[in-house]
Amino acid sequence: MNQLTLQQRQNNAASRDHWEQAASHRQRVMQLIDSAHARPNARLCVLGAGNANDLDLARLAERFAEVHLVDLDDEALAAAVERQPVADQAALRRHGDCDLSGVWPQLEQLTPDRPASDDEVDALVAAASGFAGPTLPGPFDVVVSACVLSQLINAVVVSLGETHPRFVDLLRAVRNRHLGLMIDLLVPGGTGIFITDVVSTDTAPQLQTVNPADLSKCVAGLIRDGNFFHGLNPKVLRAHFEQDEAIAPRVDDLEFIDPWLWHFGPRAYAVVAVKFRRV
Ligand SMILES: C[S@@+](CC[C@H](N)C(=O)[O-])C[C@H]1O[C@@H](n2cnc3c(N)ncnc32)[C@H](O)[C@@H]1O
Repeated sequence: MNQLTLQQRQNNAASRDHWEQAASHRQRVMQLIDSAHARPNARLCVLGAGNANDLDLARLAERFAEVHLVDLDDEALAAAVERQPVADQAALRRHGDCDLSGVWPQLEQLTPDRPASDDEVDALVAAASGFAGPTLPGPFDVVVSACVLSQLINAVVVSLGETHPRFVDLLRAVRNRHLGLMIDLLVPGGTGIFITDVVSTDTAPQLQTVNPADLSKCVAGLIRDGNFFHGLNPKVLRAHFEQDEAIAPRVDDLEFIDPWLWHFGPRAYAVVAVKFRRV
């Protein structure tokens, strides 16, 4: 099996029982989905659904005619659906073994110990940028990206290496395509909810004890100090939605959601979200 997939599966297996711990994170994610405008019988798609510890599947299946759960890890999706019984089981559609990067097999071939050549990186950038997305029965009324982009970018970190001179080129290609893919998967007028973890207690232990009222200020300070995951500076993400020539003209009604904490095993992550409407 692809080593990157194996790592994701191991992470999911180790965090399968985090349901209780994820309660406040799930509440924030569900509030955002609840607030999405959608017609009756609307269809929802969640990218990176994994263990679905951030989703109340029963509530989603009541509101949406179809709930499409997309992830690399079909085992995690199967266990999630089994753990959360839903009256209308047919409403839940699993799309396991789906890569959302477009370059997963190629990334696995790389290691920072053997620096990739310019030609190899050019090919990867082209493949990531031109990725049509997995085969899904879109378009959907609501598309949620559920903390998967940090994982796609982390795969670039472990495969190409953060000191590679073309690291940022590939990171940007993966990030830009992920945001573009969310838009592609939406019906015109549909709602996108992009959710991402931006920094964790590994480098910002103060997140563990910060007063909730001070969290936004605390995260803003971390960002100012350069303490955030590669490619996930909320200010850069905001600029992307507002100004990028491939993204900005395709979205409106942008809402930038203040950070909240996601408690995950011994760690906590600061998470932000962007809600938008496809034009
Ligand atoms: C941080 S977890 C979030 C899971 C879920 N949203 C939750 O809160 O329980 C990220 C998810 O992204 C999935 N993932 C990582 N890389 C992926 C890829 N290339 N394509 C599709 N899914 C991927 C992992 O399998 C994992 O389920």
